[in-house]
Amino acid sequence: MVTAMGGFIFIRSLRDANVVPLVEITVRRMEFRGRDCSGIAWISSEGLKVVKDSCPISSLFHKYNLGGISATVALGHTRYSTHGKADPRNAHPHLDCKGFVAVVGDGALRNYEELQLELVERGHKLVSKSDFELVSHMVEEFIDRGLSYVKAFTEAVRRTRGLISILALFRDGTAVAYTSHQPIYVGLSEDFITISSTMSGLYGNSKSFTKIDGGEVVIVASDGSVSFLDLQGRTALKSFSAYSLEEYLVATDGYPHHMLREIYEVPYSILRTASAIQAKYLELASKIILRSNRVFVVANGTSLHAGMVFSYYLSELANIVPVVVSASEFLLYYLDNIGVGDSVIAVSQSGETSEVVRSAYEARLRGATVIGATNNINSRLTRFSNLYLPIAAGPELAVPATKTFASTLILMYVLARSVSSMASSTSSKVLDEVWNEVEKVHVELSSNLGRVDNEAREASKVIVNCSSGYVVSRGITYPLALEGALKIKESAYVHAEGVEGGELRHGPISILDKNMFVVFIEPLERAAAEDTLKMVEEVQSYESPVVLISHSSKVVRGLETVINVPMIGRYFTPISIAISLQLLAYWIARYRGVNVDQPRRLAKVVKVE
Ligand code: AGP
Repeated sequence: MVTAMGGFIFIRSLRDANVVPLVEITVRRMEFRGRDCSGIAWISSEGLKVVKDSCPISSLFHKYNLGGISATVALGHTRYSTHGKADPRNAHPHLDCKGFVAVVGDGALRNYEELQLELVERGHKLVSKSDFELVSHMVEEFIDRGLSYVKAFTEAVRRTRGLISILALFRDGTAVAYTSHQPIYVGLSEDFITISSTMSGLYGNSKSFTKIDGGEVVIVASDGSVSFLDLQGRTALKSFSAYSLEEYLVATDGYPHHMLREIYEVPYSILRTASAIQAKYLELASKIILRSNRVFVVANGTSLHAGMVFSYYLSELANIVPVVVSASEFLLYYLDNIGVGDSVIAVSQSGETSEVVRSAYEARLRGATVIGATNNINSRLTRFSNLYLPIAAGPELAVPATKTFASTLILMYVLARSVSSMASSTSSKVLDEVWNEVEKVHVELSSNLGRVDNEAREASKVIVNCSSGYVVSRGITYPLALEGALKIKESAYVHAEGVEGGELRHGPISILDKNMFVVFIEPLERAAAEDTLKMVEEVQSYESPVVLISHSSKVVRGLETVINVPMIGRYFTPISIAISLQLLAYWIARYRGVNVDQPRRLAKVVKVE
């Protein structure tokens, strides 16, 4: 199976105008969702037409001379491979065997293998490895059984599991879209009806809009009427609001920066990760870890901090304590002793960080088995690894890593759970269990995100004028202290140091005064939490501005600045804490006038060759 993140748009003209150029412009504006493949479908006098390839939409138009096409109904798609390579066959739209329907989408089907097997057995010719192609064939089957287009579509999507946003264009011009979790936007004007996977997709074509949420369906019938249903076929009532978006916000989908947009994507990116992991690769990786003499986790920056959290997961769940080390140190001090029987888990969002890539290459050369964990499946890390696991967060454009950190934690958690289940020979369905857990985490994060953002914004005002500070925690949230300090440094250009709570009293405390802030993260371990709350009181007496990131309702005397994060269990609360720290760093940067998306001297990929 190959999975992808994508942006899609459907436009129907209400005045017989050609919508194809508008589809192209709009898809280009969605390229923050990826651009390794693209495709369009339209209704011509000969029926449903599709052109697609492994290139961005502008190149597609150029290569296939699409400028001359005219259609009053069309859809477009842009794609980012989260798993599997960018092959033209995997580009969307996907047709069924009979050309009834063209399907585009975003997400990953968790029950791909089961559905694929059934369809092949029933004689369908699958031309790609894309999970979304399966939906077009399922729709075809239901049409063959006599169901209407809309009913065939809803029956097909009812059989899917995972994170899925999907849009189907039928050969009579009917368009139907469904989403399992992410909103899909519907726009109206005197000229057009639009369905878009992004808010910015309505720019330039809509005057009013509404959206469908998880479990809902929108239908634009061939006569241009618009209706909404749930998956049980019950009518859903929607009210439209005025649509307006400043032009400068189109490229960031309405957010002032990619960084903020990407933080807001975390509740979806963790679902994307949980639905993209495939059992056979997960089992292979688990087997490698279990059979290793020594396990090393090698990474830099934010990925290193994710690797540190993984060491808690793996040691607590599977009783294996990995060596977690910066790739730079690994190359200098560990490589000479690496050999057959060792495994190296190389973690890199970009898959291109020089020291991580070199660590993977050199370790493999010496006989170690390398498992790459990356968000970029076309990277050197995937080539140098024996096996790779996708982080599958979708493209991350802001230099400060945010959603990829959260998604990496999910991947690392799944891996630790799988190793644990294999070690104890329990035949538990790890991926199903984790999916259920992550869906709950998704709900908690989504419902708290706006409030956490407001609290982080208020908290940032308390410390924005400090020249330096500490981020303090203990236990499984200690790596979060390091990560929070890194985010504040790179995003806001304010010096910050991550300190292990117990160490605060062994030196760092001596320089605290009103110019130095302290952000305390309430630890998840009870004794450490109690001690930390005492420290909060103590540090306030040195006049340091203090922020507490709290997952409990414990009140600290005299403390006003608290960011309350949802408690979502020992292994997922680090994600809610990470979001609060990312937002805190973001707002400090905003108040200090820093462009968070492009911090000075930093690149998204750090190369030191
Ligand atoms: C993260 O916010 C930083 N931009 C940086 O530390 C980054 O995590 C590091 O360079 C590693 O990147 P990678 O995950 O792409 O390997």
